[in-house]
Amino acid sequence: MAVTDVVGVIGGSGFYRLLDGARTRELDTPYGAPSAPVALGTLAGREVAFLPRHGADHRYAPHEVPYRANLWALRAAGARQVVSLSAVGSLDPALPTGTLVVPDQLVDRTARRPSTYFADGAGVGHISFADPYCPRGRAAAVATDVPVTDGGTLVVIGGPRFSTRAESQAYARNGWSIIGMTGMPEAVLARELALCYTNLSLVTDLDAGVHVGAGVTHAEVLAAFAANLPRMREMLIATVQALPAAQGDCSCADVSAHPAGFVLP
Ligand code: ADE
Repeated sequence: MAVTDVVGVIGGSGFYRLLDGARTRELDTPYGAPSAPVALGTLAGREVAFLPRHGADHRYAPHEVPYRANLWALRAAGARQVVSLSAVGSLDPALPTGTLVVPDQLVDRTARRPSTYFADGAGVGHISFADPYCPRGRAAAVATDVPVTDGGTLVVIGGPRFSTRAESQAYARNGWSIIGMTGMPEAVLARELALCYTNLSLVTDLDAGVHVGAGVTHAEVLAAFAANLPRMREMLIATVQALPAAQGDCSCADVSAHPAGFVLP
């Protein structure tokens, strides 16, 4: 199979459109339709395939996003690296609202989300996931001129509710830095599809265990995301520009642990 150099971008809350004048492609997958038709165009001189994670009209809650279809569709559209954007809460007072974080670790606290392609007769596969994010993608993201926090652990909760104060304090005591609802199973599905995957997270609030007030509200998250959208966009463009050519000396595309006969799109 020819290696393509399309960059997949998954937009989070508040990122419903990225590419002006893009053509769209309706893609069906063995896992159903993705959140929206894939938008194909260019950004920072690179070919980009874009999907709004929650749908063009924000129809999918974090626990309802068709994650398997989304990653499958991006790979089918030619993507070999994916940059995902997320709104997250902060578990660390040193990461105030507006901070951009490029996490290097992940804790999965979701449940009951279809989180593997290696099921339903696809065979047995156990991929390595010690380092869930592509080191080359992370290096590109932290080397741009946009100030970011390099590293940190993202804990992903099932949602759609926010955490209780006790839950949030426990996450913070564990040394985890930021909290979101969509980082998994997206990251592991990308790895199963041999995609390089990099996350750019925008802190939209201080989570309940850190904040002294009443706790997080959805309105607060949306307002902070909207206020920081231009910076997030700038960060994304700089990262896409800086990404190396698809799939080099990282192990993201290692398929040696795939089930026999598993065919990538
Ligand atoms: N997304 C944005 N802020 C969040 C928070 N505090 N908890 C979980 N997901 C979030």
